This record gives sequence, C-alpha cells and structure tokens, in this order.
Amino acid sequence: MSAASAKYGPDVDKRKKVTSADILSRKQGDKIVTVTAYDYSMAKLVDGAGVDIILVGDSLGMVVLGYPDTTRVSLGDMVHHTAAVVRASPGALVVADLPFLAAGVSARDTIGNAGRLIREAGAEAVKLEGGVRVRDEIRALVDCQIPVMGHVGLTPQSVHAFGGFKIQGKTQEAADRVVRDAVAVQEGGAFAIVLEGIPSRLGERITHELDIPTIGIGAGPGCDGQVLVLHDMLHLFLDFTPKFAKVYADVGAATRDALVNYCKEVREGRFPADDHCY
Ligand code: KIV
Repeated sequence: MSAASAKYGPDVDKRKKVTSADILSRKQGDKIVTVTAYDYSMAKLVDGAGVDIILVGDSLGMVVLGYPDTTRVSLGDMVHHTAAVVRASPGALVVADLPFLAAGVSARDTIGNAGRLIREAGAEAVKLEGGVRVRDEIRALVDCQIPVMGHVGLTPQSVHAFGGFKIQGKTQEAADRVVRDAVAVQEGGAFAIVLEGIPSRLGERITHELDIPTIGIGAGPGCDGQVLVLHDMLHLFLDFTPKFAKVYADVGAATRDALVNYCKEVREGRFPADDHCY
C-alpha cells in the first residue's frame, strides 16, 4: 500500500486531536459523531473520515469475538483491542469500555482497571455502564484525572438482569429511573453520556435536563450526538441488525462477493496472473 492510499479524507493530517473537554463544550454545538472500532485498519478508516469519538466498545465480544452478549469480554481483550485502535487514531478521541465487572464492584478496582486502559492501551477516556450505583466510582475516576463517559438505559452488560435486550424507560416510573441514573452520571463528573435503547421522547427529555452532552443509540434524534456499531452500519455482523442501526454500505455482501471471486479465480488458475508475479 502506498503512503498516499493509506490516508483517507481530505483533512486528516490537519485535524487537531479531539479531547474530552472539546466534547463537553459541544453541548449546544454541532452534533457529536461516534463510531465503534476494534482494530488498526478499521480505526484508520474511521479516524480518517473525521468522526469525533472512536469507542472501543465491549460490543467487541459480539461482533468480533462471536459471544452471545458482552458479559464474557475481559479487561485483557479491551486492552489488546484498544491499543490497536489508538495506534490508528491521531484525530478522534479514543474511549475504551470497562467490560462487565471491571467497574461496579469497588472504586479501587475500577481505578486500577481504567488505569490499564489508559496506561497500557493509550485510551484517552473510559466508558462504564450504570447510573446511581456507579456515581461514586465515576467521581473516583474523575478525581484520578481519568475522563469518564457514562452509559444508561438498555445497558448491554445488564442483559441477564433485564431478562434480555429490552428497551428501557417505557413506563413513567421506568423513565424516571433512567433520568435519575443519567443525573447521577452527571453528578459523578462524566463529560458525556450514552443513552441506549430508550423511547425518543425520553432521550429528548434527558438531553434537555443534562448539562453534559448525550450520545444516543436507539434513543432518537433529540440527543446531542449519535453512536453506531461499525459492524452494524457496514453490515459486517450478519447475526442480526438492530432496529436502530442503519446500514450505510453493505460491506458484508461486497466481502463475500470478493471471496467467491477469489475462490473461482484460484480454482480456474486465473490468479495469480503475470502482474502478481516476481
Ligand atoms: O459496546 C458498545 O459498542 C457500546 C455502544 C453500543 C454504545 O457500548
């Protein structure tokens, strides 16, 4: 690959690194664009496209590692994949997920685990799921100078407690509970919060009530930004596509077609041709 073809997007080299402070200041400004990535080559494309935040999500467990949910992802998995993304991301803010039980048990453990994502992998912020129950842990991380993104609503690590991937906040009481969680995340000192799998009206209400930016996924258009799982938007994850995801390009089909063509050409003796030989 030539040096020129390794760059994507017109202003990649001129872009200043996005910081958590920049994201916080975008509450009243331009929408915040967030996409997940888990490896070097994809992160290079995502960063080059000019997204604001690359989230190394623990959705890694489902779309890359093939687990049925995110609860089997280890901190070691997250450190390994975050480091690869960091090496490809000179522009976007890189946020790494604290996986199941790496947060929410004790502040001391959470600080140690977040510290690995920052020190060993080079993440610039961490994300953790939960609201009221993790407010003090968010505060402890922020006190240690670790920027934190919160995550409330349909938090995938709670899949067993919820009894499945179920939309949250559908009744008045449930909606009030999600609002209390979001407020707790803000009180803990998070610079932004992901709202997942809640009715659009609730997404709008929380966005209105909070001073920190909200980043929605299945939370409607009223949020301050949006996040999508890369493998959903490129149709690379074939098991299912959630209702909230939009397929921007069917890279899954293009990949399959390319591979079918490769099989054919090798079997017919058409590859390698003269151009590919020394
Ligand atoms: O793990 C992930 O990709 C996430 C997003 C769905 C927000 O947490």
